[in-house]
Amino acid sequence: MLNKADNELLTRVGPGTPMGAMLREYWVPACRSAKLEADGAPERVRLFGENFVAFRATDGRVGFMQEACPHRCASLALARNEDNGLRCIFHGWKFSVEGKCVDAPTEPRQQRERFAESVPVLAHPVHEAGGLVWVYMGEKATPPRFPDYEFTALPDTHVQPYRGIIRTNWLQGLEALLDSAHVTFLHSANLNSSTGRNYFKDESDFMLADGAPVFEFDEQPYGFREGAIREEPGNRRYARVREVSLPFFSFIPSAPKGPRIVCCSIPIDDVTTAQWYIAYDTEAPMTRSLMGAFGTWSENPDHFNADMGDASNLWLQDRQAMKDGHWSGILDRGNAYEDFAVQESMGPIVDRTQEYLGTCDRVIYRARQQLLGAVKRFRDTGELSFTGDEIDFSSIRAVSFAYPRDADWREWDYWAEAAE
Ligand code: FES
Ligand SMILES: [Fe+2]
Repeated sequence: MLNKADNELLTRVGPGTPMGAMLREYWVPACRSAKLEADGAPERVRLFGENFVAFRATDGRVGFMQEACPHRCASLALARNEDNGLRCIFHGWKFSVEGKCVDAPTEPRQQRERFAESVPVLAHPVHEAGGLVWVYMGEKATPPRFPDYEFTALPDTHVQPYRGIIRTNWLQGLEALLDSAHVTFLHSANLNSSTGRNYFKDESDFMLADGAPVFEFDEQPYGFREGAIREEPGNRRYARVREVSLPFFSFIPSAPKGPRIVCCSIPIDDVTTAQWYIAYDTEAPMTRSLMGAFGTWSENPDHFNADMGDASNLWLQDRQAMKDGHWSGILDRGNAYEDFAVQESMGPIVDRTQEYLGTCDRVIYRARQQLLGAVKRFRDTGELSFTGDEIDFSSIRAVSFAYPRDADWREWDYWAEAAE
């Protein structure tokens, strides 16, 4: 459990909050790259309680600026996107990808240029990588180092980003991504590999076999590494090694070869979160849709869970199916819908003074303590945690593998067996 003050400190992300200020110092995914076409429709993006538009200019570059026109606040989601800039349809003022006003045709000709230069525009730097447009919303004149995770170096054919949108605070989303203990219960219907829908079938069989793994943690400069160790027949153990790159990313363990998944929880505002599922394969193009593999997510990669229901209909839970043997009654929707339903059921911002944590919550406790330490440090000193030149983000990879009982999972060369 947390006291009320710490819960507020961790969860409030709007302008002027300590956590909001800290989280804005990291690069965050804003939208899918493919969503933006040159001279196409601007995309509305809400982040940290503020509204923006992202757009791709004629020359292919991406701009990211306030949604409200700096003149009289008409939405720039309505703007014309032409000749390397967004032109507001109200009075024709135009803005470049650099976030400058480059034309104000309602002003007298002789002072137009000077006037345009004086217009204050709120815009933020962007970086495209891994099929995503990333944005830096912090205060520094020079953005911090981009976290060059391995998926960010892959061609678009090797990466599939999908965005879920949940009606809860970002920390609820992150905690669900870290919570290993729920998988054997909440997702037990999906773990049954005989359905043939599961992309990560071998994984599932191990998860079902042992519901009480032993967890071991190693603190890392980017967050922490969690080893979930299960007993296997034949004098072997099975390790699932999760990598948590705070404050946003959880890398889900999978076999050393083949497709993998990383998830992140990005605050839209205090009570809404973008939960990204990014599937990627470092060796080959992704040949199957992640959505198809996990059930029947809707076909909208920008809001794949749009049809998941809500509190008023109990997320479409099917009681008859539960009587017939389905654990959660949230049918044919894969893990994500089950996760989202329980997250939303906790309320928009869960009251963590009311919890009663057990051994299975060690990972949750650890993440909260690291985040609390980081936000207090940032608030008091301005220093940012979980990043720095010494971190090799590109080598962060969550794996699962079997190894001899007398070996140490930290030392085991899983590649040698995977290559056989
Ligand atoms: S409100 Fe946009 S140009 Fe006037
Ligand atoms: Fe889950």
